[in-house]
Amino acid sequence: AIAVRSYHPKVIDHYERPRNVGSFNKADPFVGTGLVGAPACGDVMKLQIKVDEASGKIVDVKFKTFGCGSAIASSSYMTERVRGMTLEDAGSIKNTEIAKELCLPPVKLHCSMLAEDAIKSAINDYKRKRAAASASA
Ligand code: FES
Ligand code: FES
Repeated sequence: AIAVRSYHPKVIDHYERPRNVGSFNKADPFVGTGLVGAPACGDVMKLQIKVDEASGKIVDVKFKTFGCGSAIASSSYMTERVRGMTLEDAGSIKNTEIAKELCLPPVKLHCSMLAEDAIKSAINDYKRKRAAASASA
């Protein structure tokens, strides 16, 4: 970890007051779960979306991150950003946008990558569940 004083105030804000921390029931048919890790540092992020099937929009979102301040801030920011979005829009958010918004230094880019990977993985999990449900219907 790097010293706290090198973080941007936006990172500190999300770190101190993280938005949408928590979990949904993984077994909920309309919940998609993304669980990803950063091999470089061992930090882990879980991000879950609740989807309204009719509109294809993310109606709720929660995260839990075991990791550095930038990873927590990136996931907190991501949850705020994707609420109300279509899966397609949410899946196209780039980690570089997050890094720019939070003013992350280059050494912390992989922390924002974790948030991009997590939302993509949550969307894939949701799609996989829906496909399985319609196949067995
Ligand atoms: Fe220090 Fe991730 S490397 S917390
Ligand atoms: Fe690894 Fe931030 S240091 S996620």
